[in-house]
Amino acid sequence: MIVTWSEPQFVAAHAVMRRIGAHGYEAYIVGGAVRDKLLGRDVKDIDIATSAPPDRVEHLFEKTLPTGIAHGTVSVLFASYWFEVTTFRAEGPYDDARHPRFVRFDTTLAGDLARRDFTVNAMAVDANGNLYDPYGGLVDLREQRLRAVGDPMLRFQEDGLRVARALRFAATLGFTIDPATQAAMLESTTRLAKVAPERRQDEWNKFLVALTVARCDEVADEVIEAWTGWHDLRWSCACAQTVNVNGLHDRLAVLLLPFADRAGEALRALRYSRKDADEVMALLRLAGAWQAGLPPALPLAVGKQLAAYGDGFLARAVDVCWAHHPQRDRQADWQLAHAWLESAPLRTERDLAINGSDLVRAFSLQGPAVGALLTYLFEQVAKRALDNQREELLACARAWIESAPLDAALLRSFLAVAPQHVPITVYPSVPSTNDLVRTRLAEEHASFLAVLTDRQESGRGRQGRLWVSPPGKGLALSVALRLDASDSERLAEWPLFAALAVRTALAEVGVADVAIKWPNDIYLHGKKICGILTELRTASGEARLVIGVGVNVNADAEDFPDDIKARATSLKVAAGRSVSPNRLAARLIDELYGSMQRYLVGMRFRERREEYETHCMTIGQSVRVRQGEALVTGLALGIDDEGTLWVQNEASETLSVRSGEIIES
Ligand code: BTN
Repeated sequence: MIVTWSEPQFVAAHAVMRRIGAHGYEAYIVGGAVRDKLLGRDVKDIDIATSAPPDRVEHLFEKTLPTGIAHGTVSVLFASYWFEVTTFRAEGPYDDARHPRFVRFDTTLAGDLARRDFTVNAMAVDANGNLYDPYGGLVDLREQRLRAVGDPMLRFQEDGLRVARALRFAATLGFTIDPATQAAMLESTTRLAKVAPERRQDEWNKFLVALTVARCDEVADEVIEAWTGWHDLRWSCACAQTVNVNGLHDRLAVLLLPFADRAGEALRALRYSRKDADEVMALLRLAGAWQAGLPPALPLAVGKQLAAYGDGFLARAVDVCWAHHPQRDRQADWQLAHAWLESAPLRTERDLAINGSDLVRAFSLQGPAVGALLTYLFEQVAKRALDNQREELLACARAWIESAPLDAALLRSFLAVAPQHVPITVYPSVPSTNDLVRTRLAEEHASFLAVLTDRQESGRGRQGRLWVSPPGKGLALSVALRLDASDSERLAEWPLFAALAVRTALAEVGVADVAIKWPNDIYLHGKKICGILTELRTASGEARLVIGVGVNVNADAEDFPDDIKARATSLKVAAGRSVSPNRLAARLIDELYGSMQRYLVGMRFRERREEYETHCMTIGQSVRVRQGEALVTGLALGIDDEGTLWVQNEASETLSVRSGEIIES
């Protein structure tokens, strides 16, 4: 049979073959180009097989590339077309399911065609149009049949991917698979499963987009499982649903919808790119939302997906569901989805009347706190709880900031000291922040660390007591300082510095009238609102100081157990208003860090004694102080330069109390 063609690409291929022939070598158009030409299909690339060795090919043409020189392939540019010119080759035995142990270039056209996969791909045409068809490819083309060259078992054992290629060709060409070939494919699934996931994905994509309903039921479940590595797919019904939509991502989404929770894992297993996986996952999420019934307010995540992929994405997601229930009225579903979208007051945060820079300017917010607040504002407008008006949005932002629970990003926004100087970690819950920060200081190199939570499970107080704070309504903050251990006198002043730091921080968040009960309890209107536990460990000249501050912030009176109610209260109850735990935590950290800086340049308590005495509620009071085992009772006269409490007892003796606990005043 003579094959003739006049397309410029083939004319150029002929010229290439003639030039090779003029130098005494054979050259043939082979493979897919011959097959597609004979089928009347578009030909994309033309491959040429030749008896010329690769280095000769490189010499014969001006512009070449050594694309696959190890396999004898040289790319040749001729008349603005690229051709892959490959030296006739035979392959040695396959070590794995994909790679031959060696490639020989000492063969003939017949040897070259014999190593090919299917008869329809094992035909060649020379420069005169003569067709070489040693395996009956032409008959198979006419009968629309895919048949392995020679022994099918051998072909699939040589290269496991051929099992997938058979199905891909069957799907793209609309061919049936020869029964012997089909049987050998089923026998070779383990070979297919061993092929690299990237290569399996490539064939899978081509197969999936080409799949038609007529081809679906020819494919066995076990082949699909070996191909994709996806279990539970029940291909026999999944494929019929898949062909209800078009396009790779949409078909993948239909396939994965029943296993949406494992879809990410499945896509990763086949090494899909981030971009492909994101699109499929977005479709699945939207399809899931549609299935569950669209929420009244457009969720921001959906708005963002629609902004990224266009409004048509919603109709695609609807179709992914519809593919599983084709009896539904698709048009009506589209209209419903469209109306839902149209009724949304806004799509993304970009549609808000303020932006991130406005929030940074108005509230000095930084980092992730800005995004979190924009999301919140979006949600409020989306559910029509708020008008999309600048002033309203700013007022709502202010309220959100003040009422937000403890949050690392927001806290950092309020810090005066640069965040890199004060490593801060906010934990959802911890047993004791003091214990945690001490362990972390031992493990890390920092000289200052801060850890916080609003849910401390087994907080410790002084004298071995527990510190209990209603969960989510208090603040447990511990800072750890690495200091020089040589000056124990100065180190002993830290409980008082801590009390001063806490008092100042509270004043800065607007709670000005707190009082210090010596040495470092903090009281408001006669009840305790804050306790401080300072713990010092020294070793090898290094002092590790932990200052733990527990503040009852926004607890209500009924949150306190009855036995504590009489003695303790919260800022909210005593000051009559809520306080932002983030603002308070930031001020506390600023003050404690500032105290450390001043300590490092020699600060002594005597410089702050007056300030301490001004705010100390103990002076002038009758007190009972427990100092270790001993009890000191009398009138608190004052505090000296070292922070020592002086008490006059009933015998008018003046006693000094260096450290201790006032149990009654
Ligand atoms: C007291 O008044 O007895 C001192 C209470 C100190 C409680 C704080 S809360 C944060 C830090 N972590 C603890 O385990 N205790 C302190």
